[in-house]
Amino acid sequence: MERFELAQTLILQAGAVLRQSHLDGGAIWQKTSHQDLVTRWDKETEQFLRRELLAACPGDAIVGEEYPPAARGVQGAVWYLDPIDGTTNFVNQHCNYAISIGCYQNGAPLFGLVLDVERQLLYTGRAGGGAFCNGVPIRVSVHSRLPELLLYTPDVLRTFLAQHPARAGLVRLAETVRCVRSLGSVALELCAVAAGQADLFVTLCSSPWDHNAARIILAEAGGCICDLAGKPFSPDANSAVLAANSAETLATVLRGYIL
Ligand code: IPD
Ligand code: CA
Ligand code: CA
Repeated sequence: MERFELAQTLILQAGAVLRQSHLDGGAIWQKTSHQDLVTRWDKETEQFLRRELLAACPGDAIVGEEYPPAARGVQGAVWYLDPIDGTTNFVNQHCNYAISIGCYQNGAPLFGLVLDVERQLLYTGRAGGGAFCNGVPIRVSVHSRLPELLLYTPDVLRTFLAQHPARAGLVRLAETVRCVRSLGSVALELCAVAAGQADLFVTLCSSPWDHNAARIILAEAGGCICDLAGKPFSPDANSAVLAANSAETLATVLRGYIL
């Protein structure tokens, strides 16, 4: 099976298992603090994806959130796996969480898949092949005036209260746009921009497994992404992320509020 079809099959299988899951207290652990959780389901979902991907593509490398990276062959692709993006939502809401699978070769995007598990919405993007939600093409919004824009940020506290050089500008941006919303999942918020349901996204801190699938979907839907210096960032980097529905919106925000 081709890698994209394989990923699609696996993400749907994993999603079906998560929808049936029942969380008991003994299956939830703190990683670094009470605001940073992992569950038995995060671990089992990542183990399932790793096992199946490496069985089918033994020369590939895996970078996932819950386990150390798996070694790579010389010509292999690199898979970025977030078994549950939005673990806190999974624990407290059993909703608003995603499985995220991004695939790159030599640093170049191949495809990304993000499954909104409970809504059963599968976002996909293949490099040069467009972006889709459940097979229907999606496109970024056409909004350009800042007072019309909806800004997503996955961690409100950190974005607007952390001691950071961009803080004052981000607060001004929040006051200028129509509203700020938070879903609590980097992958779902970037897909919302891709699908035209939001216009801007910002986070001060994101890992490759959080954004690498969704950024391909966003780019294929016509959106743009960069770090807070306005620069592209490598798929292997932890980074602050700014994303927008167009290069023009991105430039306006960078010039007026960040740089
Ligand atoms: C987190 C979520 C959250 C964001 C964090 C991520 P996780 O991922 O996307 O919204 O604010 O930066 O780490 O831990 O639920 O996979
Ligand atoms: Ca995540
Ligand atoms: Ca996760």
